[in-house]
Amino acid sequence: MTTLLHTEGLTKQFAKDDTAIVALRDFSLTVEEGSFVTVLGRSGCGKSTMLNLLAGLTTPSKGVVSYRGKPLTGPDQDIGYLTQSDTLMPWRSIQHNVEMPLEIRGTKKQERRRTSAELIRRVGLQGFEKHYPRELSGGMRRRASLARMLAGAPRTLLMDEPFGALDAQLRTELQEDLLRLWQGSGQTVVFVTHDIEEALLLGDRIVVLGRLGRIVADQKIDIPRPRSVDELRVDPTFVSLHTAMAAALKEGS
Ligand SMILES: Nc1ncnc2c1ncn2[C@@H]1O[C@H](COP(=O)(O)OP(=O)(O)OP(=O)(O)O)[C@@H](O)[C@H]1O
Ligand SMILES: [Mg+2]
Repeated sequence: MTTLLHTEGLTKQFAKDDTAIVALRDFSLTVEEGSFVTVLGRSGCGKSTMLNLLAGLTTPSKGVVSYRGKPLTGPDQDIGYLTQSDTLMPWRSIQHNVEMPLEIRGTKKQERRRTSAELIRRVGLQGFEKHYPRELSGGMRRRASLARMLAGAPRTLLMDEPFGALDAQLRTELQEDLLRLWQGSGQTVVFVTHDIEEALLLGDRIVVLGRLGRIVADQKIDIPRPRSVDELRVDPTFVSLHTAMAAALKEGS
């Protein structure tokens, strides 16, 4: 096992007027390459703050993030980030949004078209290439964001409650799509959620955060893949993990 991401004593505080707000305190985590780690925590416990730090988008007040053994000093093209809120560019069509990471890399137009067409097909949005984000439903926009993230061919995917605002059926569909895209890819995923079932369905390992990002549980999820939501609900391992994680969440709040 190779360590991909490592944080030690990570603290982030924000200044608001004259007071300091601590959002994350002394957070230490090691993520192995190729693993799917789900991070579970209640609203406001510092999940997005933590992911912004892992993405190199913000700098810690204290502590370090290291990626492949080197300190992370800013965003890295190897790390894809699907943020909690929509960041598709409204003035660009879906195709042009998906091609963004390739444009930044200077990929030639023909190659960009080929890659974006393939990704748009993989996330089930064929026929919507020329549409603008406002012309798509919330679920379709999430699919487009997923395709855009994958266009950069990142080896590491950071995802912040990507399916949180969707109806239950659509969420299940997208979870299955994500697992299909991930399986066999060798990519490493850190997936943030506040939903226990989602965390157990997706991850190899679940890390439960309490207030200020304190780790209250860190547990391997020993449920064979492929996993289906319906079968999972009656799986004894799932049921006992669910109970334990619910207790951990409660303890952390
Ligand atoms: N830019 C900021 N300025 C001031 N306070 C902030 C800022 N960003 C986050 N916080 C505070 O830090 C805490 C953690 O916020 P964060 O967004 O990381 O929570 P979260 O776990 O992602 O919550 P949610 O599940 O609702 O998305 C909150 O109390 C929030 O108010
Ligand atoms: Mg958040």
